[in-house]
Amino acid sequence: MKVGNKHYRTIWMEGQEVQMIDQNLLPFSFEIKSFRTSEETCKAIERMTVRGAGAIGAAAGFAMAQAFAEGKDPETARARIRSTRPTARDLFFAVDSVFEAGKISVQSAVDEAQNLAEANVDAARKIGLFGDALIKDGARILTHCNAGWLGFVDYGSALSPIYTAHLNGKKIHVYADETRPRSQGARLTAWELANEGIDHKIVADNAGAYLMSKGMIDLIIVGADRIAANGDVANKIGTFEKAIVAKHFGVPFYVAAPLSTFDTETLEGSDIIIEERSTAEVHYQTGPDANGKMHTIRVTNPGSEAINPAFDVTPAELISGIITENGIIKPGNADFQY
Ligand code: MRU
Repeated sequence: MKVGNKHYRTIWMEGQEVQMIDQNLLPFSFEIKSFRTSEETCKAIERMTVRGAGAIGAAAGFAMAQAFAEGKDPETARARIRSTRPTARDLFFAVDSVFEAGKISVQSAVDEAQNLAEANVDAARKIGLFGDALIKDGARILTHCNAGWLGFVDYGSALSPIYTAHLNGKKIHVYADETRPRSQGARLTAWELANEGIDHKIVADNAGAYLMSKGMIDLIIVGADRIAANGDVANKIGTFEKAIVAKHFGVPFYVAAPLSTFDTETLEGSDIIIEERSTAEVHYQTGPDANGKMHTIRVTNPGSEAINPAFDVTPAELISGIITENGIIKPGNADFQY
């Protein structure tokens, strides 16, 4: 996608260096950071410099290729990369694919990591084409977290149909859940939509039921971090609540994800490991003052404890369909296969 007049991907590898847009600085500052070693790329995943299932997958593939190029012990490197974040399936898919390719040669590992990044772009673009069919002219769409191009190498998953609909001249309006605690919706989704000139508003995470009760939402599209064999979907914390409310009000609830997010070895959602992140993410918020100087401030009662589960699982029966690069499938149906 374009920033200014220049086309950028979220993440790419040049030689042995992984380049990525620093997502911790957006929307207040746009910077590309360079990571020269596998360990540096691992830290970038842990610190969420790169985040979102698809982008994390590309980062993990590149980190594995870097490890081969550095002559690191492949098993140790693979274990280290796999330890960075537990929930997103794409990370494990990519690291294992590049690990296998690296048994042939370092160049094979690099080629595989680059091919996976290209496949990520291609899948996201096709998700946009299939998902566009669900979006009527004038549609008001709710989304949660950021499953846009920043969450992938390009295009995104949940936002890809929205970009396609917009390009096709449909007039649409997007409601972006703020998505506490890290505010990926308020910061990243809103930045992407503004950048693409798409009408949107940021809404508090607890506004969904009100908006749906007033008939203000025609369609919900969210991304996914892991999809179990039975069609249960792990996605950013708060997704499950939106799905329950959507069912109550009869609002179609769609998930958009590439096939690399499907995990046939995990039979149902309750088996998915949910990442617990630092409670500092709940207690503190960072942003600029009126002069642009960044500050981190406490927003909760000093002395109170918090918990910070990063994802929840939406049961398959609450999902209207999953938009993939091969078409839209319905979990729970006899024909649910991938
Ligand atoms: O913790 P994050 O920001 O890496 O969360 C992952 C996500 O971005 C989402 O859950 C998203 O909706 C699906 S993955 C693009």
